[in-house]
Amino acid sequence: MGDRVVISYSLSQRFLHWATVFLVLFNLLLPDGMNTWQRLVRHGGTPSPEQIASANIHAYVGIGILLVTILRLCLRFVQGVPPETAGEPAVFRLAARLAHASLYLLLLALPASGIAVYYLGMEALSALHADILKVILWIVISAHVLGALVHQFYWKTDVLRRMTVG
Ligand code: HEM
Ligand code: HEM
Repeated sequence: MGDRVVISYSLSQRFLHWATVFLVLFNLLLPDGMNTWQRLVRHGGTPSPEQIASANIHAYVGIGILLVTILRLCLRFVQGVPPETAGEPAVFRLAARLAHASLYLLLLALPASGIAVYYLGMEALSALHADILKVILWIVISAHVLGALVHQFYWKTDVLRRMTVG
């Protein structure tokens, strides 16, 4: 078929994107074990082994997200990414770039603040983690998903393909 321009994310990049989606939604939707631990400790209680275990699940999933995010940034640097889509006004390309950068920042800042609260006892960062960054992440994810759908179905640039089947 002649020369083929790289139009897709690599298999590892695609796998790690969807693994991130799964892990992030898990921590966003099921933080109850960690919240119970936090409430107990703040009031001077002693968590049971079961309560510690379910708080640890949130922590380990979050640390997993941190490691996967660092790996993704390395892959992005080494393998590059497909060229930006060209079918839409430039402001939408800028919006996509901003959304991706914010997602990477949030996926570093949420685990970092969580680790500071959970392992280092830096209670002051608890509101940053559990109120502020959490809400910003929900907003950016919503914008990201909406943006992907607008690119796909309105501008008809095949962005979903390059992050799925390739
Ligand atoms: C927890 C939720 C999600 C997070 C944290 C996330 C994160 C990211 C990040 C950081 C990138 C940039 C990749 C790079 O260029 O290095 C990206 C790209 C992408 N994401 Fe997501 N994503 C999420 C959910 C979704 C969902 C649900 C969809 C499908 C509707 C989706 C579709 C895409 C597509 C199509 C791209 C490639 C964009 C392009 O080709 O420029 N993402 N995502
Ligand atoms: C991207 C990764 C993470 C996400 C999306 C996330 C998300 C959340 C959410 C949604 C809550 C509940 C907030 C609420 O009450 O509504 C929470 C609480 C908490 N998370 Fe995370 N988390 C992540 C990583 C981590 C890590 C790695 C740790 C520790 C090692 C951690 C420690 C905590 C603690 C201690 C709380 C309770 C804070 C409080 O209620 O004051 N998180 N997290």
